[in-house]
Amino acid sequence: MKIESVMVTGANRGIGLEFVRQLSQLSDPPRYIFATYRNADCLQDLKEIEESSTQSKFILIKMDVTRPEEIEAAKTIVEDAVGERGLNLLINNAGVAKMEMFPNVTPENLELHYKVNTEGPLLVLQAMLPSLERAAELHAGTGGMGVSRAAVLNMTSMAGSITNAGFVFTEDLAVPSYKISKAALNMAMRVAAAKVKDKGILIVMMCPGWVKTDMGGRERAVLEPEESIADMLKTLSTLNESHHGTYMDRLGTPYPF
Ligand SMILES: NC(=O)c1ccc[n+]([C@@H]2O[C@H](COP(=O)([O-])OP(=O)(O)OC[C@H]3O[C@@H](n4cnc5c(N)ncnc54)[C@H](OP(=O)(O)O)[C@@H]3O)[C@@H](O)[C@H]2O)c1
Repeated sequence: MKIESVMVTGANRGIGLEFVRQLSQLSDPPRYIFATYRNADCLQDLKEIEESSTQSKFILIKMDVTRPEEIEAAKTIVEDAVGERGLNLLINNAGVAKMEMFPNVTPENLELHYKVNTEGPLLVLQAMLPSLERAAELHAGTGGMGVSRAAVLNMTSMAGSITNAGFVFTEDLAVPSYKISKAALNMAMRVAAAKVKDKGILIVMMCPGWVKTDMGGRERAVLEPEESIADMLKTLSTLNESHHGTYMDRLGTPYPF
């Protein structure tokens, strides 16, 4: 797997931070790592990874995915850096989960999840699309689709499966706004995948598993971030056009929408 440039959203902690760490430690690491954050006071861990990386150029970008003007500014930063070589990989990772249970879900809670988990990733993808297209064109010779050409990895959740809603998960995982926003994210990315299918940009939706982060909970979650992200990167390296627009777990096993 050769990834020349990657953008990871929500990279200052949790799964995003671990993606950045492992990507920077690849035997042939990316030339550019665009790592986005919201609060400059929370960059210590990210800066430590940056300092220990000898081969990748880190570009830290302040980007709240609910702010179109910050997405637009990020687009300019990425395009100025990668130029005609384009962006190889976008990891739409930033997300939120704030528990409010039915029948007491508020409009504010629904709106927050929709804006961060659904609208944000789609707007970021739209902004990065010209750069992803450039990378896909540049690496067209590799044929087919793959992460070494151009790809979008969306951090979704099995909690967004309509097929399994209410059957697989225990009550405390039945967070309505979160589940709704991830089901909508899956649809948003299916639509995008259908639209870009002839452009050589692979789009997939992947669940990381139940991971020990602020969101996943450190006590009850079952996977260390190191294991989850190692599995996802391994799976990512194997994906091709047959996986375009699909929903899977971290090991690449298909999951029902
Ligand atoms: N952990 C799990 O078990 C699990 C399971 C399934 C799916 N996922 C998905 O994996 C992704 C990462 O989860 P995580 O466990 O690492 O969560 P986390 O520890 O809560 O980290 C969330 C990240 O998203 C960022 N973020 C939140 N709202 C944002 C916004 N409006 N704009 C930009 N960035 C924003 C946060 O930035 P701040 O530090 O500024 O808040 C933080 O960097 C999410 O999409 C989540 O839904 C996680």
